Amino acid sequence: MASPQRIESAMREAIRQGQGRGVGTRTRLAAALDYAVTPGGARIRPTILMSVAMACGDDRPALTDAGAVALELIHCASLVHDDLPMFDDADLRRGKPALHRAFSQPIALLAGDSLIVMAFEVLARAGAADPGRALAMIGVLGKRTGMPFGICAGQGWESEEVIDLSAYHQAKTGALFIAATQMGALAAGQESEPWEELGARIGEAFQVADDLRDALCDEATLGKPAGQDDLHGRPNAVRELGVRGAVARLDDILAGAISSIPKCPGEGQLAQMVRAYASRLVPAAARDRLLMPGE
Ligand code: IPE
Ligand code: IPE
Ligand code: MG
Ligand code: MG
Repeated sequence: MASPQRIESAMREAIRQGQGRGVGTRTRLAAALDYAVTPGGARIRPTILMSVAMACGDDRPALTDAGAVALELIHCASLVHDDLPMFDDADLRRGKPALHRAFSQPIALLAGDSLIVMAFEVLARAGAADPGRALAMIGVLGKRTGMPFGICAGQGWESEEVIDLSAYHQAKTGALFIAATQMGALAAGQESEPWEELGARIGEAFQVADDLRDALCDEATLGKPAGQDDLHGRPNAVRELGVRGAVARLDDILAGAISSIPKCPGEGQLAQMVRAYASRLVPAAARDRLLMPGE
């Protein structure tokens, strides 16, 4: 099952191993590793990864767990680095002080770096049982983390004079959703290529929903600073399409996502998962706005 318990226990075990034994476990950096990943946010990426693996039979559950953990570790690392003063300079993350505020900037940089390395170690460890599958999963995760197709590439766009919005969103946000569907398929012994479109579409939907949340929710609801797109002058779906337009766009993308699910034994269940996810994506604040005259 792609249950929260399955994800949390795999995450806990990875952090415990990453903290090591003996004197190192009492360092600030060891504490920061735990701080960066617990309590988690929505854990949407590992949930998608596990759901795809299960739809494909999940015949090597330890490899699925390792993939889910590795992906979430990369995501958590990206958030730690993203909040640093040199990037978004955000003080709040998942309802608590951003890691560099709770610890320090050097510890935040090192914690992010350590989590990225740990992600690949987790896959390398689990890979002994099926090196072929693990190697392919490592390849996908590397591709969607670095340059030119990964989060690094995405964040890099923010340093350009002119931003290619679609390339920026695909790399910054879409990349890890593609990694989620492809790594889930690979963990269960399937080809990765047919799963790229589903990941890309879910990622696109997530980005529109994130734009809606950023524009309409407050800091207390989000657990992180709100109104960031306006503050940083970033183009976003709400400014481009309005609230109603953005919600309609979200519906369109998700319908496309469902029709792009590749043939597999658990196809129906996977479609149900995407539908359930979709109903949680539109923030209540957006629904309320749609009931107002003139919206
Ligand atoms: C936030 O991702 C970062 C973006 C890519 C916009 P999530 O909204 O999935 O963050 P958590 O993991 O739930 O905190
Ligand atoms: C988050 O991006 C980090 C990455 C995707 C690398 P954002 O800056 O857009 O998202 P939040 O609002 O801080 O979560
Ligand atoms: Mg950012
Ligand atoms: Mg940010």
